[in-house]
Amino acid sequence: MDEQQDAIDRVAMALRAARRVAVLTGAGVSAESGLRTFRGATAADLPADMRALWAEFDPMKLATPEAFADDPAMVSKWYDWRRLGCLAAEPNAGHLALAEMQRRLEAGGGECVVITQNVDRLHQRAGCRRVVELHGTIIDWRCLACGIRSTPAPEPMPAHPMRTACCGALLRPDVVWFGEMLPEQAIRAAWDAAQTAEVFFAVGTSAIVQPAASLVGVASSAGATTVEVNVEETPASGAVDWALRGSSGTILPRIVERAWG
Ligand code: OAD
Repeated sequence: MDEQQDAIDRVAMALRAARRVAVLTGAGVSAESGLRTFRGATAADLPADMRALWAEFDPMKLATPEAFADDPAMVSKWYDWRRLGCLAAEPNAGHLALAEMQRRLEAGGGECVVITQNVDRLHQRAGCRRVVELHGTIIDWRCLACGIRSTPAPEPMPAHPMRTACCGALLRPDVVWFGEMLPEQAIRAAWDAAQTAEVFFAVGTSAIVQPAASLVGVASSAGATTVEVNVEETPASGAVDWALRGSSGTILPRIVERAWG
């Protein structure tokens, strides 16, 4: 039996025996839906629409409150472009496998919390019900003054920046920017899930952006079996029990299939 199949079998066995499972996901899980990751794919000879976002764009000019204050039109336009990309994308086999994992565990009286750094809502569209959005979502926007959220229509916004009907203030994406606090409830739910998980997965994340990156260590210190699914090695690879190399759209369905047939 090849080494990876053996590892998948063991992970599947741990999953079958577990009642509490937590899964941290990052941009890699949506890569097979055609959404660009932030890091990783940096080769200059890649076509622009396949390169990692932060290889083409400067996060400090787009993903900070200061950037929005300096140039709200540009930031609003960029996030609207990404929002439309997320709406046009479809969940892939990895998203569907996680939704199936959640259903199977819940059917057996257990639970599976998906903690995502992704803002694309693809987990929910794949059928996941328990999703903690650590970095918010690009699908909803909110009033900069009063915080009221709305869901813009699935078409390009009529202007950049938009002003809100409630306050006449600027409309911003409901994402977490660099330098901002993560939503308190989401942090609490994520930490709780990591601390109580018997099996913890880190899928498609470069595991370098804090505080999400600490969750693997939190779960591991609390005694969870830890599993990484990634096409590349990351700083988390050496710390997990099982580092599975490959795409989430291939590996996750194999794990679910092995666990529940
Ligand atoms: P990154 O873009 O940093 O990392 C994506 C990871 O996915 C890399 O480790 C890739 O090797 C891996 N990957 C790519 N394709 C994959 C596939 N098909 N299957 C499995 N793995 C794959 O994305 P995140 O870790 O999510 O925050 O980044 C974290 C945060 O940094 C984001 O939420 C965003 C970004 O700046 C903000 O904008 C605040």
